[in-house]
Amino acid sequence: MKSITPSRLLLMKEKGERIASLTAYDYTMAQMCEAAGIPLILVGDTLGMVVRGEESTLAVTLDDVIYHSRMVKRGAPQALVIADLPFMTYQVSHEDAMRNAGRLMQDTGIGGIKIEGGVEIAGTVKRLVQIGIPVCGHLGYTPQSTHTLGGPRVQGRSFEAAVKLIEDAKALEDAGAFAIVLELVPNEIADAVTQQLRIPTIGIGAGPDCDGEVQVFHDLFGLFSDFQPRHSRRYLSVASDVVSAAEQFKADVASKIFPGKAQSATLDDPELRSRLAEYLDQRKEPPVVAG
Ligand code: KIV
Repeated sequence: MKSITPSRLLLMKEKGERIASLTAYDYTMAQMCEAAGIPLILVGDTLGMVVRGEESTLAVTLDDVIYHSRMVKRGAPQALVIADLPFMTYQVSHEDAMRNAGRLMQDTGIGGIKIEGGVEIAGTVKRLVQIGIPVCGHLGYTPQSTHTLGGPRVQGRSFEAAVKLIEDAKALEDAGAFAIVLELVPNEIADAVTQQLRIPTIGIGAGPDCDGEVQVFHDLFGLFSDFQPRHSRRYLSVASDVVSAAEQFKADVASKIFPGKAQSATLDDPELRSRLAEYLDQRKEPPVVAG
């Protein structure tokens, strides 16, 4: 089967096929997404929070994203795997952006990158696309600007902010972005942006009218107990199931129920067993004391 490409996502929008996307941070998570037929996997810089327990995405480096992207790509050969360009790897200059995005693609084999921002970043998007790097935009609440935005809050609530969001989205599309993530945006604005664009919008906390939906793996499957974002739904409670199972394991080890026969190897040869028993008996005899 052929791998998913950015143009396949465009086709999905044209056909009205909705795009389900998940984050993944390692080989096994990517394998599970792939087995479920998830077409778009994001190696998000949310790894700072859900994998490393940090407060924000800001400390994640390019080397970190490369490390995780390699594992994810290995686990998901069919899906379109994209990764976040971390904070400060693309904001200073086009040259930085091209060098860092190029390295991320070259060292990992992934199919594209994601960067945050609108009109102000459109020139960078254009240069990246020109050198052959597929770019996904990210508007609304942009976690790399959490300090200026005052934390994860719904964006685009005023008329001016809504118009800016639509113009930012158009600027990204014109610059060649293949999709745009809309995070924490009122439903009506996300719908308006989606209708204005030829490229797909992928919502997260942006209502049901985007062309697709992305969710953080840990939020959706309950791997993370620090907090539960309002825009997520728990499809599983993996963390509490694992805690219960680990308690059972601990009790089984204490009472010698585990490991049992099925998990152990035995000596089948009776002659070998009796030789060993003889040897162990001899070792039990008290040592001869000289004199
Ligand atoms: O880093 C991330 O996981 C993201 C998603 C929240 C879209 O950007």
